Amino acid sequence: MESDQEDIVEDDVTTFIPVGDLGSAQVEAMTGIKAITKIRALYAAGVPLFTKENLRYIAQVQDECRRRGFGIHEVILRGFNGSDVRCEVCNHEPVLEFRIEYLSIQKLEGLWGWFDPRGDQPWLTIGFKSYMPNRRTSSEGPDNPPATSVEYLNEGFHFVKTKWEASGYYGRLRRTLASINPPPVLTKVIGLACGPLCSVARAELDHRGISQHLLLLTLREAFSNDGRQIECYSQDPIYNENEKQILESLGIRVLEDPMGFVEVDEGSVVVSISPNVPVKQIIADIARPAMIIWYPRLVKLDPSMETGWTYTDPDSARVDKMLEDYDKIEFPPHFNIGPVELYVRKH
Ligand SMILES: C[S@@+](CC[C@H](N)C(=O)[O-])C[C@H]1O[C@@H](n2cnc3c(N)ncnc32)[C@H](O)[C@@H]1O
Repeated sequence: MESDQEDIVEDDVTTFIPVGDLGSAQVEAMTGIKAITKIRALYAAGVPLFTKENLRYIAQVQDECRRRGFGIHEVILRGFNGSDVRCEVCNHEPVLEFRIEYLSIQKLEGLWGWFDPRGDQPWLTIGFKSYMPNRRTSSEGPDNPPATSVEYLNEGFHFVKTKWEASGYYGRLRRTLASINPPPVLTKVIGLACGPLCSVARAELDHRGISQHLLLLTLREAFSNDGRQIECYSQDPIYNENEKQILESLGIRVLEDPMGFVEVDEGSVVVSISPNVPVKQIIADIARPAMIIWYPRLVKLDPSMETGWTYTDPDSARVDKMLEDYDKIEFPPHFNIGPVELYVRKH
């Protein structure tokens, strides 16, 4: 790209850059109120926003764009209505991170100002966005100090772990987990968006992120038996190489976005606390995990709104429907974990 950095940042705020080929009849049918009506009809008919097949496909497209290197690449993505959508993907790495974008039903409907529903946007639920300048890989400067060293992180993590295991909270958590009657086959614990181990801005430990990873380890410990340790995975694009190294040394396998989602199945214990992506809606479409730990449903600010409040991991009719198949178990609150809920699939 020849444009200067400021232009790049401005341009890339646009998530999807359609280059046409939807077909004029389709575009017309997709305008204005018809667009929302159509989206709602597809949703009501049970058309998934997310499928494992499409998640795997987007991973392939992403790999291919990365292989092609810097620049703007034309790709074919899958529309919500099943049609192919031709898009341009801006790959400016390492200046800007090139990320997968997931659209909740609320964003797709345009209710939160995501796009003007009178426009002729393609109906993508999984696409790409160029993110903010990548502070973790771009050169160091006054606002971008060197990453916290592996040694410091390792020592810090184990220090917090020792305190965690000696705490009254840990005892309460273990008792809660021991009281659960889980579905018969538990094979893995999967963390989705557990956050960093050190803060991005300053070289110091992130106690919230560390606590959430300790929760993953505690769940693994609690549900491993007969000398067989169940798997533990974590997906969060925020990890830097040092954090990945620490997590791997703890037996937490780091998965690139979106492979953590793809990994979720009936034998999984999923932990996802305040993610920046619509994890609840992704899970509701792709799997029925054995257990789930995530934030409670948010209270509707406006009762006339179908699906709740504006936030990054919104509930939906489908999430509610899925949770009918689960028992809700009281989960001990923790300062760094939050007022989460624990759901166990009925069996
Ligand atoms: C508000 S923070 C919450 C972090 C942590 N769970 C907490 O409670 O402090 C949102 C997190 O979502 C992560 N995130 C964004 N996109 C993600 C994706 N596609 N998969 C997994 N995590 C993602 C961000 O990197 C960030 O760590």
